[in-house]
This record gives sequence, C-alpha cells and structure tokens, in this order.
Amino acid sequence: MNKYSKELASKYTQGRDKYSGTDAKLFELIQQVGVKDKDVLDLGCGDGRYAAKFLEMGAKSAEGIDISPAMIELAQERHGNIEFTIGDCENMPYKDESFDMIFSNFVLHYCEDIQKAFSEITRTLKKGGYFIGIFNSIETDNHNILHKQMPVLLGEDDPVTVHNLMRLDGEYQDTIKSSGLNIVEFIDEPNSYAFVDPNFEYYSDIKKLKNMIFLCRK
Ligand SMILES: C[S@@+](CC[C@H](N)C(=O)[O-])C[C@H]1O[C@@H](n2cnc3c(N)ncnc32)[C@H](O)[C@@H]1O
Repeated sequence: MNKYSKELASKYTQGRDKYSGTDAKLFELIQQVGVKDKDVLDLGCGDGRYAAKFLEMGAKSAEGIDISPAMIELAQERHGNIEFTIGDCENMPYKDESFDMIFSNFVLHYCEDIQKAFSEITRTLKKGGYFIGIFNSIETDNHNILHKQMPVLLGEDDPVTVHNLMRLDGEYQDTIKSSGLNIVEFIDEPNSYAFVDPNFEYYSDIKKLKNMIFLCRK
C-alpha cells in the first residue's frame, strides 16, 4: 500500500533536496550522540543518502532498509558499497541488539502498526543504543479520521502525492514509551513542506500537520 512506484521513487529523489530543511535539527542530535564507531541503520532509507553520510562521519557500519524495491534499487545504484535491504520496519530481518543507532527520516507515519515498528526498533537496538527519528502527526478534533490514509502533497510547484496514516502526537509518545525506549528529547514544529491534499474528504477537519523529532535511548 505504501510502496513507492518506480516513477514516484525517481520523482521523489529528484526533488529530494527541497525537503532538507529539517536535516540540521536531526544532525544536531546525531552529533550530540556521536556516530563514530557505531553500527547504524537507516530505517526507510529511500535513496540511501543518510547511510552514506553516516559512513562519511565515521560510523563503523551503516546500512539501509526500505519497503519499496524501487527505492532500494536507486540506493544500490547510488551507493554500491553499502548494504541495502528490501524490508518492512514492522518486521525487520535483523538479530536482536544489532545496532547502536537507528535513524529514520519521515518514514514511521507510513506504518500501519507503529507498536510493531517501535517494538522492532527496540528489539534491534543494542542496550544503551539510540533512536533518532522525525515523522508526521496531525492536530484534529475529529478523532474518526485518525488512522485513515490521508493524501499528502510534498512540494508546492510540482507536488508528489503520498498516502500517510495519521495519528495524534500523544499516540506516538505513548507507543514509544511502552516499547521500552526512553524519550531523551522531543521537538515538535509545524510541517512546512507537506500539505494535505484539498480533495481529501476530511480536509477541513485537519488543523495542522506537524513534524515530531525524537531522540530516544534504550
Ligand atoms: C518520505 S520517504 C523518506 C525516504 C528517506 N528516509 C529520505 O529521507 O529521503 C519515505 C520512505 O519510507 C519507506 N517506507 C514506507 N513504509 C515503510 C515500511 N513499512 N518499512 C520500511 N520502509 C517504509 C518508503 O518506501 C520511502 O522510501
């Protein structure tokens, strides 16, 4: 359902640099924790740019996983030296305690079952390991629309439409805590890159699309 087609993957990656405004905040957190000599997973790695960056920054190992074969193909073409795996963050093919850091940039709001996703993140992190992620939530008073697929437009001039499953930020916070991760830092802000498609039947019920940035520790 959330697999990017080859066409969308290529369009997304071509326009990808337009959506890098939140990188600085994430990289502040990454610097705070440090990447050097760590085993790092880029969860929902898209075209693989962050896994490559982590290796440049001195990670011991960096690899990526993404549910979309088209995205993994792109990542492999771009970074032939890095291991990229087709897989679902709700059921990852990694052993317990494999990673010192799991990074995830705008992926977890696509998951149908975030409890499964966070329990997989917790399972595959080493003790003391870090999760650093950013994803979307919504503000709305109409709770009937929660967990519905919502068409979201990325970019203004030549938008790409993606379908996200939307939740309130409290649901994410509760899920993270119950998965066994401790929230070290939480930042939320309006999402200035993504817009709900005005044709969505509950468009008028959405007050705000937000970005949530989490630094968590196992
Ligand atoms: C907005 S893109 C972000 C890609 C990359 N993290 C970046 O910042 O360029 C979302 C990515 O999440 C992937 N994705 C969606 N659902 C997923 C799932 N259940 N497991 C793993 N990846 C998933 C999509 O295929 C897509 O590559």
